[in-house]
Amino acid sequence: MTTQNATPATPTGRIVFGCKLSVAKFEAWEAHAAQHRRQHDRDPYDYEFEQWLRRCKERFDKAGFPERPVIWLRQWHRGEVEAQNKTWLAHWERVKASIGGPGVTLALTGGRGTGKTQLATAAGWHICYSGRGAIYSRAAMLFTRIKSSYGHDAKETEAKVLKEIIGTQLLVLDEIGETRETDFEGKMMANIVCQRHDYGRDTILISNQSDESLARSVGESITDRIAEGGAIYTFNWPSFRRVGV
Ligand SMILES: Nc1ncnc2c1ncn2[C@@H]1O[C@H](COP(=O)(O)OP(=O)(O)O)[C@@H](O)[C@H]1O
Ligand SMILES: [Mg+2]
Repeated sequence: MTTQNATPATPTGRIVFGCKLSVAKFEAWEAHAAQHRRQHDRDPYDYEFEQWLRRCKERFDKAGFPERPVIWLRQWHRGEVEAQNKTWLAHWERVKASIGGPGVTLALTGGRGTGKTQLATAAGWHICYSGRGAIYSRAAMLFTRIKSSYGHDAKETEAKVLKEIIGTQLLVLDEIGETRETDFEGKMMANIVCQRHDYGRDTILISNQSDESLARSVGESITDRIAEGGAIYTFNWPSFRRVGV
C-alpha cells in the first residue's frame, strides 16, 4: 500500500503532504506509515508526518556522523551525485539488509578513501530514519570520552557513557587500530562490542588495516561475534578521493 497523499514528482523524489522527499526518505516514510496504519487503522495525518520527519532528523543530527559524508549522502539521496563502484553498492545493499534486525557485528576494511565512513554514514541514516538511534565515534575519541569520565570533575559518569554506547541500535566505531590501542582500550572495546552483540545491537567497526591485521588487533571475542551472522566487507579499490569523484 502506498501513502495516499504521495504523488509522483521526479524520478528522484516524491511529494508527501506538499514536501518533496528523496527516494530513500520516501521509502523510510512508507515503512513508518505502514506500521502506523497497522497500529491505528488509518493513514497518518500531516502533523504526524512532520513530527516523524523532525524526529528522524534530530536522531541523525545527534548521532555525530562527520559532516563531509553527511553532505555527500544528502546529494546522493537527491540524485545529484552517483555512487561509484558496483562492489561498494553491493556492500551497501547487504549492510542495509542486515542491520536493524536481531543485531549484527560487521567490519569494513580497506585503504583510505574507499568509502567506508561513507557507507557507515548511510547505515546510520537508515537506522535513524527507521526510528532507532545511532552513534558514530572514532575509536580513539570514544576511549578518551570514557577515560575522561574517571576524573573528579568529570561531566559524565562511566556508567552513563556505557549505557548510551551499549544501548544505541547502531554504533559505528571508525579508525580502529589507527593509534595502537592499549591493553585497557582493547579490553574495553571487546567488552562494548560483545555486550552490544549479545543484546541484539548492530555494530560497524571500520579499519584501514587488512582483514588479517584487523582480526589480530580486535582479538578473538570480537572476531567470534563477527562470525556469528556478521561479515567483513573489504574495500579493495583505489581511493575515491584520488580519482576525484
Ligand atoms: N560509493 C562512492 N562513490 C563515490 N564517491 C564516494 C563513494 N563513497 C565515498 N565517496 C567519497 O569518497 C570520499 C572518501 O570516502 P570515505 O568514506 O571518507 O573513505 P574512507 O572512510 O574509506 O577513508 C568522500 O569524499 C566520499 O564522499
Ligand atoms: Mg574513513
